[in-house]
Amino acid sequence: MIRSVITGCGSYLPENIVTNDDLAKTVDTTDEWIVQRTGIRQRHIAEDGETTADLGEKAARAAMKDAGITVDDLDLIILATSTPNNTFPATSVEIQHRLGMNHGAAFDMQAVCSGFVFALTTADQYLKSGFAKRILVIGAETFSRILDWEDRTTCVLFGDGAGAVVLEAREGEGSVSDQGILTCQLRSDGSHKDKLYVDGGPSTTQTVGHLRMQGKEVFRHAVGMITDVIVASFKATGLNADDLNWFIPHQANKRIIDASAKKLKISPEKVVITVDHHGNTSAASIPLALCEAVANGKVKKGDLIMLEAMGGGFTWGAILLRW
Ligand code: UT7
Repeated sequence: MIRSVITGCGSYLPENIVTNDDLAKTVDTTDEWIVQRTGIRQRHIAEDGETTADLGEKAARAAMKDAGITVDDLDLIILATSTPNNTFPATSVEIQHRLGMNHGAAFDMQAVCSGFVFALTTADQYLKSGFAKRILVIGAETFSRILDWEDRTTCVLFGDGAGAVVLEAREGEGSVSDQGILTCQLRSDGSHKDKLYVDGGPSTTQTVGHLRMQGKEVFRHAVGMITDVIVASFKATGLNADDLNWFIPHQANKRIIDASAKKLKISPEKVVITVDHHGNTSAASIPLALCEAVANGKVKKGDLIMLEAMGGGFTWGAILLRW
């Protein structure tokens, strides 16, 4: 059977680093509060004029270089983002053009913080169906552009960045020993739409709007939803937490990650944490964390990796893959 294998990954973070102490100069907060409640110490913020397409293009080029391919080898680009350059055309199409790719297709996907899990799942289906052989999947965000910088309950949580992977169709045996994606689980429930949203849009206010969140409510649902899709991934494959080498969750809040890992009996040394130095980069957080774990030499061929995310919508999902 066809398996979707990650053959390269790359990432990019804006040069500008903003620490908690920097934020404390403009909003009523402290480094102590932010670290204690979230685990975040700093985040990267895009420079004026630096766009989601700029970050995504750099991550895409790094991923293609890592995979040893050129745009001629790609059939499709999928970009997960909630902060596109413009309402349309899709930012992925701009990235496709900048990369010099004038064949195949590109489109954006929007599932907020779960965007990368949704995009990777979509790419997996395209590869398994034979529609494509090689897909570039990017998560890129400039959340700094939709934050209310006077709202201390949200502006301290997010950062900008991009990560990308090249996903390729390879022949597998159909067993859980195969390299590549073993199972994908996606969920959404719009009854939670008012708990995490942006208060603007082309069809409502004709403005971009700002991120609004009932943080406690999101927190309350997060661990249960994350657990639900991870348990479903184990059930679908017959594997369990002991089989995992790495747990690479969406990086929103270290307390959510720790509580999820504890509930699932995943030992802390298997958990990849980047939220301390990236903040919550929404759809970019998983590929950023994955690339960092690969670059650090943590992730080795044959390792079993669980990815998961939960975000606005609500949307949530998990992907179990063998490296
Ligand atoms: O990717 C998915 C998206 N989002 C998330 O996963 C976020 C989920 N939620 C969270 O991570 C947490 O709920 C937060 C980190 C947002 C907040 O932590 P909390 O422990 O739930 O705090 P809280 O909202 O209950 O606020 C406690 C206090 C409040 O003061 P009072 O009412 O007790 O006097 C807040 O006003 O902390 C205050 N507060 C702050 N104080 C200093 C809120 N934000 C700040 C701040 N600095 N930045």
